[in-house]
Amino acid sequence: MQSPFWNVQQAPVVPADINVPKTIPETASVTSRLMEVLDSNSHGNVHGGVIMRMVDESAAIVAIKHSRRPVVTKRIDQFTFIAPAYIGDVVHIHCRMNYVGRTSMEVGVEVLAESLGTGEIRQICSSQVVFVALDENRRPTPVPPLKATTPEEQNQIQKARARRERILQIEQELETEFH
Ligand SMILES: CC(C)(COP(=O)(O)OP(=O)(O)OC[C@H]1O[C@@H](n2cnc3c(N)ncnc32)[C@H](O)[C@@H]1OP(=O)(O)O)[C@@H](O)C(=O)NCCC(=O)NCCS
Repeated sequence: MQSPFWNVQQAPVVPADINVPKTIPETASVTSRLMEVLDSNSHGNVHGGVIMRMVDESAAIVAIKHSRRPVVTKRIDQFTFIAPAYIGDVVHIHCRMNYVGRTSMEVGVEVLAESLGTGEIRQICSSQVVFVALDENRRPTPVPPLKATTPEEQNQIQKARARRERILQIEQELETEFH
């Protein structure tokens, strides 16, 4: 199906070589934005949905840098807000690749709020976002493998793989239960 945005001018896409592994540091990304009045909820804090959108967009940067492909969000694993972000804070979204499957990529996200008045930095939430890379027909397409460069990274990748297997198992169980 032709996109309604077909005529929008877009930057060229050169898919990454799927035989050349990528490392976690080479795609890691930090996005920062000052929270303004338009970002507030009715209590005057930053709206949770604003943070969720920033997380989805920022994590996508990592998945696109890894695959050099268009990506879509397949799942967002969890979203527990530990502390509020306020208008006037700078929200920093730290994103790094956790795990890469054949066509899917899990990006780990840490959200911090920095009070510009005091320099205090608070943890707001953390999450894992799974993206799938798409080919020209909008079907899942393979991406380069992920290469650990330290024992800590290897450990992190193994943990993410085990977590993913547990989650997919639970989803399968729920599907058979409710369908
Ligand atoms: C993404 C999409 C094309 C994938 O289609 P699909 O039929 O599920 O494709 P597959 O079964 O081949 O799965 C693709 C990958 O997703 C993984 N996957 C499937 N279900 C998953 C789930 N619930 N959680 C995490 N990963 C999942 C698969 O394991 C596979 O990963 P792998 O290749 O690394 O092993 C399709 O689900 C889709 O279009 N979803 C909507 C995406 C979207 O629009 N997001 C924005 C919401 S507005």
